[in-house]
Amino acid sequence: MASRKLGLFVAAAVVSAAALMPPSAVAQLRTDYYASACPNLENIVRGSVRQSMAQSQISAPAALRLFFHDCAVTGCDASIMIVNSNGDDEWRHSDNQSLKREGFLTVLSAKAAVDSDPQCRNKVSCADILALAARESVVQSGGPYYQVELGRYDGRVSTRGSVVLPHVNFNLDQLNAFFSGLGFNQTEMIALLGAHTLGAADCPFFQYRIGSDPSMDQGLASQLRGTCGANPSGGFAFLDPSPGAFDNAFYRNLQGGRGLLGSDQVLYSDQRSRGAVDGYAANQGAFFADFVAAVTKLGRVGVKTAATGEIRRDCRFPN
Ligand code: HEM
Ligand SMILES: *[C@@H]1O[C@H](CO)[C@@H](O)[C@H](O)[C@H]1NC(C)=O
Ligand SMILES: *[C@@H]1O[C@H](CO)[C@@H](O)[C@H](O)[C@H]1NC(C)=O
Repeated sequence: MASRKLGLFVAAAVVSAAALMPPSAVAQLRTDYYASACPNLENIVRGSVRQSMAQSQISAPAALRLFFHDCAVTGCDASIMIVNSNGDDEWRHSDNQSLKREGFLTVLSAKAAVDSDPQCRNKVSCADILALAARESVVQSGGPYYQVELGRYDGRVSTRGSVVLPHVNFNLDQLNAFFSGLGFNQTEMIALLGAHTLGAADCPFFQYRIGSDPSMDQGLASQLRGTCGANPSGGFAFLDPSPGAFDNAFYRNLQGGRGLLGSDQVLYSDQRSRGAVDGYAANQGAFFADFVAAVTKLGRVGVKTAATGEIRRDCRFPN
């Protein structure tokens, strides 16, 4: 149970690494970066993610979450995918933060598909494939299409010690402090957290709220008591009522006190952020537009260049 408690520490990010990146590292990103090196890149990733999604409904949510966990820690450099033989790597931090293997597999499959095209072989970074897989996860779940900026290089380093992520028990000030370190203001953060329209959470992340957090709807509380009581270690619940659809139901859910994570529900409980939640709950188009801007901004965090990174041949191991 000790390791499960650690699981409460969710995402994270090394603010320092991102903040130290010179702005010029951002300038290199372009939507047509691989136009000559791998002209069919987007179609290849689209088809591969479609296959992964057909195999498991966890693929899309898990791939989108992986993108956040990558970018938030030492920048969008696919360091989250590195497997170190000594076990000291980002993804194994705190009981691996419940990052689901389907997310990793979605990216590895897409990488294999890209490399099966002789023209593209070892030309496209894992960081870019992850960014594209995240976009496909959004679009193929019914969310907005957006052009993905490309040209990231892969990092060579992944350590558990570098992982600093927000926790599910953060209040609004703590959330703002964390996300402002990545360059997001409060409204942008609320739009980005709309990613929780997809997928699920394991009981340890919300069980502590049942019966003790007055902002939780009573009906939800009794439902979750059943879910987690029956299966304390393996139980889970969906983050919103339509976990396979990228829509604004997440925000309407918060209005009803039915948010699963404390860090989500607080966006409605706190008067300072409630207006933005109400706005997105009422206007899916506004949510989509702001999400696209926010996830694009996420993709610029701590981007590495040819001088500071590489094109990894196997996404799990530095070259
Ligand atoms: C305050 C910041 C955040 C916290 C505390 C947080 C926490 C969590 C937790 C605890 C889970 C459940 C994991 C599990 O039990 O499997 C989760 C799932 C998820 N998170 Fe977040 N998260 C945050 C921000 C984000 C952001 C910024 C994104 C993407 C842009 C994101 C995308 C997702 C997705 C898609 C899932 C579902 C994963 C699945 O079903 O496997 N999260 N998050
Ligand atoms: C994380 O750990 C859990 C339990 O130890 C395991 O079931 C799951 O497959 C692990 N995730 C990854 C990505 O290895
Ligand atoms: C937050 O950022 C958005 C998008 O860049 C901008 O439109 C908005 O005015 C900003 N809000 C505040 C309070 O600065």
